[in-house]
Amino acid sequence: MDYKSLINISKLPNHIAIIMDGNGRWAKEHNKPRIFGHKNGVLSVRDIVEGAGEIGLKYLTLYAFSTENWNRPKVEITALMQLLVATLSKEFSSLNKNNVRLLAIGDLKSLPSDCEKELLKAVENTKNNTGLSLVLALSYSSRWEIVNAVKKITTAVTENRLSIADINEKTFQNYIETSTIPDPELLIRTSGELRISNFLLWQIAYSELYFTEKLWPDFNKNDLFEAIVNYQKRERRFGKTSEQLINK
Ligand code: IPE
Ligand code: IPE
Ligand code: MG
Repeated sequence: MDYKSLINISKLPNHIAIIMDGNGRWAKEHNKPRIFGHKNGVLSVRDIVEGAGEIGLKYLTLYAFSTENWNRPKVEITALMQLLVATLSKEFSSLNKNNVRLLAIGDLKSLPSDCEKELLKAVENTKNNTGLSLVLALSYSSRWEIVNAVKKITTAVTENRLSIADINEKTFQNYIETSTIPDPELLIRTSGELRISNFLLWQIAYSELYFTEKLWPDFNKNDLFEAIVNYQKRERRFGKTSEQLINK
């Protein structure tokens, strides 16, 4: 089934976030080491970014490495970081060619310095692109982000730049990693796991969740389009009743 033609472009979500999971299990199915799964996962990233561009999506956030992933075996971490540097330098020109603006969220300072450098270079050199904003979540976790925001807010209060009375959901938003990024309307997780794994906890308060059994290296743009079609069939009530929405 070709899902692209079923998408209602006038009701496209602004922002889709994806927990790209299942690379290791995919590699195991192919009797290969885990890194083989990660390498094939990069091909899925390329296909999804292309698909997002085709339909004119504004924001796509990809969970690429969590704070907790630092607890993986050192060989896997090293290979993942090398893959990141290699991919960034290889894909850099195609990001520009496709008008993609790269952004990154997470504790970037904790990345190996060549990774951080390559990443910041790609962010800087694509900052004027006006097409898709591709947000990479790296060394990211939501609890880290929220605690970090609390630190920044208390500093601002201490330095009299912010008064306690002015702290609300809107001002809080200014202190999180996604301060310039709208909340995702749709969150996708691959590989059949039904959990959030410390991803965008604040931002997904009202996101629609979509889980698929497909492992990340098997996930392609048609799967993305299928998720969007599924999302578009849902009624987002935001606490109201269905009747209120119909009569508005
Ligand atoms: C997701 O795939 C990629 C990262 C977390 C870096 P996994 O590596 O978690 O794959 P599984 O879950 O072990 O199959
Ligand atoms: C979540 O996947 C993190 C990323 C996709 C980068 P994990 O595979 O690390 O999640 P858990 O630990 O199984 O929940
Ligand atoms: Mg996993």
